[in-house]
Amino acid sequence: MNILILGGGGREHALAWAVMQNPKCDRLIVAPGNAGISAIAECASFDVEDGAAVTNFVEENTIDFVIIGPEAPLAAGVADRLRDAGVLVFGPSKAAAQLEASKRFTKEICVAANAPTAGYGHFTDADAAKAYVKEQGAPIVVKADGLAAGKGVIVAMDEETALEAIDDMFGGTFGGAGAEVVIEEFMDGEEASFFILVDGENILPMGTAQDHKRVGEGDTGLNTGGMGAYSPAPVLTDQIQSDVLEQIIMPTVQEMAKRGMPYQGVLYAGLMIKDGKARLVEYNVRFGDPECQVLMMRLGGQVLDMLQAAAEGRLNDTKANWATDHAVTVVMAAQGYPGAFEKGSAIKGLSGLPEDSSNMVFHAGTTQRDGQIVASGGRVLNVTARGETLQEARDRAYAMVDGIDWPEGFCRRDIGWRAL
Ligand code: AMP
Ligand code: GLY
Repeated sequence: MNILILGGGGREHALAWAVMQNPKCDRLIVAPGNAGISAIAECASFDVEDGAAVTNFVEENTIDFVIIGPEAPLAAGVADRLRDAGVLVFGPSKAAAQLEASKRFTKEICVAANAPTAGYGHFTDADAAKAYVKEQGAPIVVKADGLAAGKGVIVAMDEETALEAIDDMFGGTFGGAGAEVVIEEFMDGEEASFFILVDGENILPMGTAQDHKRVGEGDTGLNTGGMGAYSPAPVLTDQIQSDVLEQIIMPTVQEMAKRGMPYQGVLYAGLMIKDGKARLVEYNVRFGDPECQVLMMRLGGQVLDMLQAAAEGRLNDTKANWATDHAVTVVMAAQGYPGAFEKGSAIKGLSGLPEDSSNMVFHAGTTQRDGQIVASGGRVLNVTARGETLQEARDRAYAMVDGIDWPEGFCRRDIGWRAL
């Protein structure tokens, strides 16, 4: 089977690494890829958000299966163009990708599906939004409706912050994404993520994870794309997982099908857990990054069969072979991230590290220059390990971190603290 993966972050390196382990994979191309991916697969360069460009590439290279990593090509309708051309593809249609691309859409689906989530109001003008905040009081959460690269959510602990956020959003801080605003009830509790494959009708849970969004130890400081993650997430007990599937996931899948926009791909449910009950914070229509890295390490080569079954509508007779172990990934980022950071510093020591089914350094923002690996982004490496226990996985990951010689980088030393 010839396979194309779209994307070039740590998530796609982990997907490529897992897919490659499956004997069904004859040829693997990743676009655009990165320096780590180029060590295990071919990399190609074309506009991955342009459906026609992707379809041309697929036809010229006799690709049998396309796996779409990030949300941007999905929200741009790349999966639709590929399906129109008769190509097997993993990832939702543009219509179904609204579950990530529009907060209002997701809230409407939750209401129709009777899925537990925060109460909300939806606004297209600042005055009405402000009146709602004054009526509800703080804490309260203000969200730009559209995709805002994870920055469109303000959790306001006081009214003033919420009112400022409304002015910012309608003032154009998030461009078109902020032209509509959702204001939500603040939910207290512990956050965790649940990843579920969906084939339009049937589901197959893939695993749970928790990430660390804040840049500083003890979960302090600015928000980031994620500074590390671990799987499984102990807060998502078997009972909570089965409640979530029954009360949130299946009703969502059924509602999407009823609206003529069946969901096919991975559904990433961000959940808030309090007193043994989960409520939906958000959906994403792709794997989390870095959560994907720990999921892939625990699932290995079977991932290809699972994604293919989702794409072919066969999840009802597909089983996952569950690992009972733990995995941890530590993100190494360029100093300054998530603020301004330098690119181009050399990373040494990688070739001395173990690379096997229990230890992998997945690359995010890296590139090759003069035979060296250099940093080319904010989040640069995802140092990933598994173990019988979370502690063992974490010790192995930090042992690898200590073998990396990159003075211009940093990481948090406390990934997994909540679960330990
Ligand atoms: P979202 O992009 O919707 O996931 O929001 C980003 C982050 O904001 C979430 O991961 C939560 O930490 C926080 N958040 C979003 N909505 C709420 C809410 N209703 N109550 C409390 N925290 C929230
Ligand atoms: N790590 C959070 C995300 O991928 O959205």
